[in-house]
Amino acid sequence: MENTGITRVEEEFSNLGKEFHTLKEEHEIYLKKLEELKSLQARCMSKVNHQQKRYKLLLSALNRKGLDLSGEDQVKVNELKKNIQKNKSDCQEVTESLPKPNSTFLSVILGRVSVSLLTRADRLSYKEEYERFKLNLSLITQIFAILLYGFIELRFIDAIFHFLLVWYYCTLVIRESILRHNGSRIKGWWVTHHYLSVVLSLTLLIWPDSVTYKLFRSQFMMFSMYMSFVQLLQYYYQSGCLYRLRALGEKRDMDITVEGFQRWMWRGLQFILPFLYLTYIFQLYNAYKLFELSRHPQCEEWMVGAAGTIFLLLFIGNFTTTSRVVLEKSRKAFVKNK
Ligand code: COA
Repeated sequence: MENTGITRVEEEFSNLGKEFHTLKEEHEIYLKKLEELKSLQARCMSKVNHQQKRYKLLLSALNRKGLDLSGEDQVKVNELKKNIQKNKSDCQEVTESLPKPNSTFLSVILGRVSVSLLTRADRLSYKEEYERFKLNLSLITQIFAILLYGFIELRFIDAIFHFLLVWYYCTLVIRESILRHNGSRIKGWWVTHHYLSVVLSLTLLIWPDSVTYKLFRSQFMMFSMYMSFVQLLQYYYQSGCLYRLRALGEKRDMDITVEGFQRWMWRGLQFILPFLYLTYIFQLYNAYKLFELSRHPQCEEWMVGAAGTIFLLLFIGNFTTTSRVVLEKSRKAFVKNK
């Protein structure tokens, strides 16, 4: 290397050295702030816990039976109860931006690593990422099911498809538990639905390439194609809700109001519901077909009855939960409009 080359490297190294020095200073400040943040989080958490415990005690004292109150005192008690409730819900809001210990399920799967998302923006981003993950996997399973239905009939490729579904539903269960940990109101049934789907996919994975498997295979592939299509519709509904929620929170899109959001949600629901109910009828039909196959003279596998039972459970759970959600939403809308 020439002399001028070495000098240039020396100069650049010395400049980088100065930059490195400021980087180290800033890193030290960062570490100090991180420590401060942790101790602030712990302090806030202990204060919130203390407040919540005290409010509980105060409320039970005010609710104690046998208190002989005059009209004026009763007004005071009611006012106190209202204020305590308000503070309690403010405390709840505070806890949303503080790290929480993992649920037992998450602790077993992930260990003690914290999965608390501390800002609303982080929570929405995680939810968006979860919806995109479902969209991508729905597209992959859609293509896979079309190929298996129309072009490929090899048991080991079917096994790869079933295995992909096992992995997909296991991942969904974990992601949904993280979402619920961070305040999502996902109904318990949808998580149970994915547990049952794991068991169903495992049952299909280990079902031998028998007469009954061959008799059910085409119907299952058709069902998978249809379900992936419905999942795409669900993605457009959920991502539309998320976009509007984010815009409402940030107040960045002035065209979006709470009423506008409700109107959009109802239009989305009216569009998606017929497709959802058709999925449930398909699930019921799968259960019927499998129970019929379990009486086939050449049926020797327990998987036939087991898969039939799971399809039946999925039908009952999905049908009742979706109907309940729609009824609840219409009741709330009716009360609001009154
Ligand atoms: N899976 C995962 N999360 C779901 C969900 C589902 N099936 N249904 C609702 N959620 C989530 C929502 O995103 C929302 O999350 P958030 O609290 O983080 O914002 C929360 O649960 C509450 O949603 P809710 O108000 O009860 O319903 P919604 O308006 O979001 O959706 C339906 C209503 C009916 C469209 C939706 O529940 C649905 O698609 N159900 C059918 C699912 C199904 O049958 N799957 C199997 C066949 S494809």
